Amino acid sequence: MPLTTTRKMLLDAQAGHYAVGAFNVENMEMAQAIIGAAEELRAPVILQTTPSTVRYAGTGLYCAMVAELAREASVPVAMHLDHGDSFELCVRALRDGYTSIMIDGSKLPLQENIALTKRVADMCNAAGVPVEGEIGRVGGKEDDLEVENAGYTIPEEAVRFEKESGLFSMAVGVGTAHGFYKEKPQLNKDLIVTLRGMLASPMVLHGASGLSDDDVRDCIARGICKVNFATELRAAYTEGVKEVLRETPNVFDPKAYGREARRRVTELVKSRMLVCGCDGKA
Ligand code: 13P
Ligand code: ZN
Repeated sequence: MPLTTTRKMLLDAQAGHYAVGAFNVENMEMAQAIIGAAEELRAPVILQTTPSTVRYAGTGLYCAMVAELAREASVPVAMHLDHGDSFELCVRALRDGYTSIMIDGSKLPLQENIALTKRVADMCNAAGVPVEGEIGRVGGKEDDLEVENAGYTIPEEAVRFEKESGLFSMAVGVGTAHGFYKEKPQLNKDLIVTLRGMLASPMVLHGASGLSDDDVRDCIARGICKVNFATELRAAYTEGVKEVLRETPNVFDPKAYGREARRRVTELVKSRMLVCGCDGKA
């Protein structure tokens, strides 16, 4: 089927108290793995690319590839721009067919974050494409984005952000960080409950690589309905490549290690989808 937006997917997840997994994609094998996992488990799925990924190969190429895989798939697939870092990049992604856009103005003062998010949302909403905004900071390092200290979302600010920015979904700071955790994350699960009570928008959890299954489930039970996984997919993919090259150093056909890397990403994505509870929801 054609690419779908994240709108119905996330509203259904919010009503059904589960989360849709959003998985960062870098290449064809990862895209096949993620959509293959979704088909196997009958799960709706979001594929997403960061700014550094689209600098590597372009929004047009990633979107065309995922759209073609989606066309052949029998489950809903959305293509999302993750951590969009400028109005211009959002324009490009929208023009090239992305069906969901994140503008990350979380490092800006609230008023400027609202203004930037609104500018992107006004454009995307006119095209029927939902926008994810972010308030509070996700710690750690993702892409070129490095944040020293995670900032917890302030509920009153989140309410204002929701009211004034035109966003559809909201990434919140509740103590997670991008990348693998060097120390135990200080998750504020009560804050998720508070935010859920004050906001209507679907809430997004970033930085899920390395979080325990129980932590992910707890966050979803408290109101998260989109969960982002990136680092651990890249690690699983690369481990697969390394192992094939270690065991058969003479191999030179990219398909030989691509196949094993893809298999590992499929298995990982399936296990994360089961934790999200989105299996059987397509
Ligand atoms: P991880 O790399 O920690 O899984 O974070 C994913 C993410 O939030 C992508 O936006
Ligand atoms: Zn993120």
